[in-house]
Amino acid sequence: MNIKDTYIKFFEERGHKYIPSSGVIPENDPTSLFITAGMQPLVPYLLGEKHPEGKRLVDVQKCFRTNDLDEIGDTTHHTFFEMLGNWSLGDYFKKESITWSFELLTTKFNIPKEKLAVTVFEGEDNIPRDEESANIWKSLGISENKISYLGRDDNFWIAGSSGPCGTDTEIFYWASDEEVPEKHDPNDDRWVEIWNNVFMQYYMDENGSISELSQKNVDTGMGVERITAVLEGKNDNYETSIWKDIISKIEEITGKSYYDERYTKAMRITADHIRAIVMISGDDAGIKPSNTDQGYILRRLIRRLIRYAKMLDVDINSDFEQELALMIINQYAKYYNELERNKEVILKVLKDEKVKFNRTLEKGLREFEKIKNSLDGKTINKDLAFKLYDTYGFPIELTEELAMENGLLVDKNGFKEKFKEHQEKSRTASAGKFKGGLAGDGIMETKYHTATHLLNAALKKVVGNDVHQMGSNITAERMRFDFSCDHKLTDDEKKQTEDLVNKWINEGLEVTKQIMSKDEALKSGAECMFIEKYPDEVTVYSIGDISKELCGGPHVNNTKELGHFKIKKEESSSAGVRRIKAILE
Ligand code: SER
Repeated sequence: MNIKDTYIKFFEERGHKYIPSSGVIPENDPTSLFITAGMQPLVPYLLGEKHPEGKRLVDVQKCFRTNDLDEIGDTTHHTFFEMLGNWSLGDYFKKESITWSFELLTTKFNIPKEKLAVTVFEGEDNIPRDEESANIWKSLGISENKISYLGRDDNFWIAGSSGPCGTDTEIFYWASDEEVPEKHDPNDDRWVEIWNNVFMQYYMDENGSISELSQKNVDTGMGVERITAVLEGKNDNYETSIWKDIISKIEEITGKSYYDERYTKAMRITADHIRAIVMISGDDAGIKPSNTDQGYILRRLIRRLIRYAKMLDVDINSDFEQELALMIINQYAKYYNELERNKEVILKVLKDEKVKFNRTLEKGLREFEKIKNSLDGKTINKDLAFKLYDTYGFPIELTEELAMENGLLVDKNGFKEKFKEHQEKSRTASAGKFKGGLAGDGIMETKYHTATHLLNAALKKVVGNDVHQMGSNITAERMRFDFSCDHKLTDDEKKQTEDLVNKWINEGLEVTKQIMSKDEALKSGAECMFIEKYPDEVTVYSIGDISKELCGGPHVNNTKELGHFKIKKEESSSAGVRRIKAILE
């Protein structure tokens, strides 16, 4: 079965007009580099503007998530993915939407209804509990046990922090060979989310206040990679029909097996990146590798692809990347015909960037080895990182990745400063933007910044004083924190850490800023990550009397502003380094 075609046809038969995917760059939204959800290009129509194709639409949208490139290589994350959606622009609402979802899943995708469970909004002060959706599900034969009522975190959807939004009902599939349990447990990850139906009837402004939209919309989103894995019964997305041919081709080119553990990850990254590269460079936006914005992501993807291909012993001078790109173009041109139109551009962009990088890659890797062997401490300083960038074309993230693999650190902030200085001097590019890698300074980022200090302090209390921060990465959606630690945190340690951070948040601790000399700061016991990079006069942020760190900020004034802190994941980052992903809700 062709899942995309089945989906599109199903909704066409119910009065929806198929519209082509929009381009990959959001219009009128300088805050995101790429489209990350199907609703983004449709925002004006969700707000009331008339869509030329009518009130019922169906599409498959090109989407990207480029914040966490280092997550790529597992079984489920992808840089590029496709999202199927059906849309009501002030036309039908909950009843039709839920009924059609149920019908498509059970009669076209042939999923037994016993294997489905759903979540609906539990209600809060000014938004009622979604009994309406629950009742519709019940009328279709979903038992009460399989309906969970959850809060804002799970069943309220908005892109970013303001815009059209609403409660949603999410549909889960029992993706396990074990017997389907009687009751849905939202914490059991054998229940896999396959579809999200958002009932967009509100607008949230910058201050978080909600008002009714002039029309009630439906925005549903179904990730193609996930539904395909589910329907084909695979735990590894790369084993599905989507990736089968490309993985076989990579096996053929390298003469290695995907199932040889030494190569699995590199093959996944190769496959994922070549597809993302084709989608970015093949878009009509005409993105070319560069040192800023989308072009920088494209450059990083190509350079990362080359590095991983090298790890797989591919002859970089061969046309392997051309061959792989052509396969992707053939596979996807039916839905995104710009790929066919821009074929020559895609192939040339890839080749040119490869040749450019390949000239210095080998030497750069040798330089890295030299640096590694000559380091006094554990940190690659800004000058060395900049040399790798400037002379050998290593994006800072590549240097970081190599450093991680070798148990080293990179002075990224120092690098950033140096990069800026260099740019100002050479006046070549307008501004050096490292979106997706470094913290911005929006409200959420500021909150996460403060949360990072609390987490650092909490880990020291719970796990021990020899925990040290090894890195952090903040976006508006989440924080990531790397720290030295020789074991996987126990559930108990995780819980205690989370509780302690929340206790401090609730205590409403003042965050204060002091300027002092570096010596004074160190004497006072302030924490810091890269002492060598600080000037003689430093800023120290203190939170009540539980944390004191050298830091450039920005921070909130009082921990009360943070909301609730939740650890989403704790995992290994590299030898002796653990990584926590957490959110504020
Ligand atoms: N906007 C929702 C999502 O991205 C449904 O399409 O999940």
